[in-house]
Amino acid sequence: MPTVELETIKAATREKMAHLQYRVLVCNGTGCIANGARQVYNAFLTKTGACRNLVSVKTGDPCHMVGLISQTGCHGLCQMGPLVLIRANNGFKDVFYCGVREPDVAEIVEETIKKGRIVDRLLYTNPQSGELCRNPGEIPFYARQNRLALAECGLIDPESIEEYIQGGGYSMLRRAALEMTPREVCELIRDSGLRGRGGAGFPTGRKWLAMLEQPGKPGEPRYLVCNGDEGDPGAFMDRSLMEGDPHRLLEGAMIAAFAAGATVGYFYIRTEYPLAVQRVRQAINDARRLGILGENLFGSGFRFDCDVVEGAGAFVCGEETALLASIEGKRGMPRHKPPFPAQEGLFGKPTVVNNVETLATIRYIMEQGVSAFRRFGTVLSPGTKTFALTGRVRHTGLIEVPMGTTLREVIYEIGGGIPGDKKFKAAQIGGPSGGCLGETHLDLSLDFENLTALGAMVGSGGIVVMDEETCIVEVSRFFMQFTQEESCGKCVLCREGTKQMLALLQDIVDGTAELEHLSLLEETARAVKAASLCGLGKSAPNPVLSTLTLFRNEYLAHIERRLCPAGACQALKVYAVNPDLCKGCTLCVSKCPAGAIHGEKRQAHRIDVTSCTKCGVCATICKFKAITAA
Ligand SMILES: Cc1cc2nc3c(=O)[nH]c(=O)nc-3n(C[C@H](O)[C@H](O)[C@H](O)COP(=O)(O)O)c2cc1C
Repeated sequence: MPTVELETIKAATREKMAHLQYRVLVCNGTGCIANGARQVYNAFLTKTGACRNLVSVKTGDPCHMVGLISQTGCHGLCQMGPLVLIRANNGFKDVFYCGVREPDVAEIVEETIKKGRIVDRLLYTNPQSGELCRNPGEIPFYARQNRLALAECGLIDPESIEEYIQGGGYSMLRRAALEMTPREVCELIRDSGLRGRGGAGFPTGRKWLAMLEQPGKPGEPRYLVCNGDEGDPGAFMDRSLMEGDPHRLLEGAMIAAFAAGATVGYFYIRTEYPLAVQRVRQAINDARRLGILGENLFGSGFRFDCDVVEGAGAFVCGEETALLASIEGKRGMPRHKPPFPAQEGLFGKPTVVNNVETLATIRYIMEQGVSAFRRFGTVLSPGTKTFALTGRVRHTGLIEVPMGTTLREVIYEIGGGIPGDKKFKAAQIGGPSGGCLGETHLDLSLDFENLTALGAMVGSGGIVVMDEETCIVEVSRFFMQFTQEESCGKCVLCREGTKQMLALLQDIVDGTAELEHLSLLEETARAVKAASLCGLGKSAPNPVLSTLTLFRNEYLAHIERRLCPAGACQALKVYAVNPDLCKGCTLCVSKCPAGAIHGEKRQAHRIDVTSCTKCGVCATICKFKAITAA
């Protein structure tokens, strides 16, 4: 394989791109696709006749490229999709359109692309000031973020290795391989203070050094494994990175392999992420085609090759030892540590396991240096963190903020606050086994230390925001159901303990629990946390324990007064007709599946609570809002 000439590829790509009059970047994140982004993309192709592929266009061809339309990774502002960013070469500033539909494309092409005019109705309107925002930098959602791992996500074509190289890609790998020793790379990352973004926050440089220093037999394989399992409900950060900038991930993984002394790599990606699987596979194939993967890379003597392994969606397979067992073709069950994977990992050989975001951050640290990275975040948790912001917040989406940003900034400044002017109640952070934070934590700096001290965790980075209408006990029950179903069953405490906790929580939301349920729940939670084998069981009680601390009164209301203060628990609702509002239309009488509503035409009806099944149909269909649940 000839030595790859990054500069030649970079110059040729730059030359091609210099001829572009415009560039259209259509967000291809799941939210946007669900809202019709593919149709929007196709409409741009047909309406402009522009190219979709940088590689196939040769400068000077008669069909010389004037415009390039790309499907990108997630732009982040999922709530407002489909999102389209238009960049032009004629000194015209970027224009960012939200909620673009297929019929809007003709107007965008005529007005913005051909005449440089803005289509105001597709711009983002700042809800506070009423101002129209022309580009992402003017939108509070983006202005408050610092994108290091997500630097080019949404701004480049994830399927073009040439574009990645044109932006400086793979030059940090070349620098590491040609100008640094593996130890120097490990020490640089150690000095940056980068901590693993997969949940536990273990220092990345130290992990690499541990593997580098691990004795082994000459010629014996050593492995680098990228953890792209991301099984947490509500989390999509790693997926967005894999879909949006797979080469940044691959470059980070290769630098990690060089530093830690690995020659073979695996990207473990859940099979439910088909686009991520396809994009990472394509990135690997394209890098191999250009000689960036394989033997004697950049003439340095370093060799590395890798492949994708698809995981079948068991949450526990994200735990590193279970993940390694899964790659080996065994059932994905965790094992006791030590030995740690760096000592005895895949097929019994030294292995580094790193999260997607951790690896996607490496290029920034190599390029910008340790102090640039440490400018973000806190002393003990430097850098940034991506979060998937979901739940009762105006702007749900994908964000990247400095570690130490407060929950208030995330929810109110970036997320735009709670819709319907409802009151903030709690935020569940760190995935299904993370903890809940309440109003008193709104000004808490989100970092590894603070969250762990509160019995919560940064985890993978899912943030689910809840308002006053959310029942906190039901939320705990929901997450316990998830972790109980996902327990692999290997250790008794996790297998039986989570089952018991779920049964106790179910009784509480059903209104059949007694006070002893609460002490038993707490006792079981503490035992499961203390003595489970792996992180799944050790953290599964977090939602229960944290909500018991913050919202014990709500648990007590369910038990002592058979009342759900949020009015959310179906079993505790009592439906009643307000006689002042009821017009006696009989619609509810005819629709009630239990025959529980009685009354004559044009006279107020009444609900027989003994036969009412609390299904809520009556309240939904009543045109006069005469039926409510208390
Ligand atoms: C139940 C469970 C699920 C996990 N799921 C993931 C996951 O989806 N992705 C991930 O990177 N780490 C996950 N982890 C953490 C990994 O075990 C491991 O710490 C991480 O991949 C190491 O990479 P890092 O040091 O770069 O964070 C999980 C841990 C547990 C206990």
